[in-house]
Amino acid sequence: MGETCLARSSKYLYFSLLGLIFPFFLQSVLGRELKFVLVIYRHGDRSPIEVYPTSLHNESEWPQGFGQLTKIGMQQQYELGQYLKKRYSNFISTAYKREEILIQSTETDRTIMSAQANLAGLFPPSGDQIWNPKIIWQPIPVHVVPKADNPKLRFPMFNCPRYKKLLRETMRSNEFQAKIQPYKEFMKTIASYSGYDPRTLIYLDNFKMWHVQDTLFCESIHNYTLPVWATQDVRAKLAELTVLSLSSLFGIYKREEKARLQGGLLVKAILENLSRAAKNSEKRKMLVYSAHDTTLGALQMALNVYNERLPPYAACQIFELYQENNGEHTIEMYFRNHTVKDPCQLTLPGCSSACPLSKFAELVTPILVEDWANECRQMGGGGKIGKCSQA
Ligand SMILES: *[C@@H]1O[C@H](CO)[C@@H](O)[C@H](O)[C@H]1NC(C)=O
Ligand SMILES: *[C@@H]1O[C@H](CO)[C@@H](O)[C@H](O)[C@H]1NC(C)=O
Ligand SMILES: *[C@@H]1O[C@H](CO)[C@@H](O)[C@H](O)[C@H]1NC(C)=O
Ligand SMILES: *[C@@H]1O[C@H](CO)[C@@H](O)[C@H](O)[C@H]1NC(C)=O
Repeated sequence: MGETCLARSSKYLYFSLLGLIFPFFLQSVLGRELKFVLVIYRHGDRSPIEVYPTSLHNESEWPQGFGQLTKIGMQQQYELGQYLKKRYSNFISTAYKREEILIQSTETDRTIMSAQANLAGLFPPSGDQIWNPKIIWQPIPVHVVPKADNPKLRFPMFNCPRYKKLLRETMRSNEFQAKIQPYKEFMKTIASYSGYDPRTLIYLDNFKMWHVQDTLFCESIHNYTLPVWATQDVRAKLAELTVLSLSSLFGIYKREEKARLQGGLLVKAILENLSRAAKNSEKRKMLVYSAHDTTLGALQMALNVYNERLPPYAACQIFELYQENNGEHTIEMYFRNHTVKDPCQLTLPGCSSACPLSKFAELVTPILVEDWANECRQMGGGGKIGKCSQA
C-alpha cells in the first residue's frame, strides 16, 4: 500500500524537534524548503445520514437532525486545526492572513461547520486580531464549492454513464464476487433485521448496507439504545462490508478506469495547484478542502495508496510541495488518521516518498482525463445504480 508509517514517525518527530529549535538552520541543513501545502480532510463526527426501515431512532431524536456535525465532531476538527497550526508554525503566519490560505468546502452543513471548527483551532486571534476579548475566535471565510464546479470534491459522481457501467461490471466481477461471497448469508440476516429487501442490500453501491452500519455506528458513539441484534460481532462485520462498499466504488475492478472518471479529477486539480505553486512564487501557501470519506477514498484509490479502511472522522490527507537543494520540486504525502500517532507517509507507487513533481505528474497521467464529459459518454448505457450519497 505504500505507507512507511513506523519508519516515518520517529524520523518526523526528529525533524519536528529540530524544526522547533532551528527553523532556519534546518532549512539550510536539509537543503530544502517547504513551498506549498494542500490539505483535504473528512468532516468530524456527525449524526446518521438516514435510518433503515426498522430503526429504533428517528431523525427527531438527533439535536439537529440527520447528517449534522456534533459537538464531538467540532472538537475533532478543532484538534486537527491545532495540529496543523503546530505542524506549520514555521510556514504559515500565526495570525490569519487571507492571502496565505484558501479554504473550500463541499456544500453540506457538516463540512462547512467542520472547516469553521478547524479554523478555530488553526487561527485563534491574538494581539491585534482580537475583536472581542471574551471570544477567542475570529470569522474566517469558508468558500463553498457547488457540486458542478471544480475541483470535484464530492464522489462518486453518478452523472457519468461510463462510470455507472463500470460499477455494474464491478458488482458482477469475479474479484468483487469473491470478496462478497463470505458475507452472503450474513447479508440476508441483516436484510431481515433492518427491514430492507435482500435484493436491495446486495448492491453495495446503493449505500443501503453502508447506512445500516453507519446509523448503528453513530448511535453507539452517542449512547443511543441499539437493537438487540446489533451485537459487537454484527457491527464489526457490517464495518467490513462498509469498507467493501467504498472499495467497490473506486477500486477492486478496473480501478484505473474508474479513477479517470472520479478521483482523477481531484488529483488533476491538486497537481495543477502544486505545479502552479512550484512555478510562481505566490503569496498563497495553503489550500484546504473540507470534504467526505468518499472524497478521501476516491483520492487514495486513484493514487493507489488506499489502506482498505474507512477514513475516520477528521482524517486528513496532506500534500507538501518542497523545493530541494538542487532546485527540483518534490511532493510528499501524509495521512493523518489518528490524533495521537504521527501521520503516516504515503508513497505513490513507483516513486520515492519525496516524489519529484515531474515524476509524480508522469505517474498519474493514466488517471487524468482531458474531457471528462466526453469520456463519460463513451460506451455509455444507463442502469439502476443508487443515487449520489456521501458519508
Ligand atoms: C419519531 O419518534 C418519536 C418518538 O418515538 C415520535 O413521536 C415521532 O412521531 C417520530 N417522528 C417521525 C418523523 O417518525
Ligand atoms: C457515552 O457513554 C460513555 C460511558 O458512559 C461516556 O464516556 C461517553 O461520554 C458517552 N458519549 C456521549 C456522546 O454522550
Ligand atoms: C487549484 O485549486 C483551486 C481552488 O480549489 C481551483 O479553483 C483550481 O481549479 C485549481 N487549479 C489551478 C490550476 O489552480
Ligand atoms: C491509519 O493508516 C495506517 C496506514 O494506512 C493504518 O495502518 C492504520 O490502521 C490506520 N488507522 C486507522 C484508525 O484507520
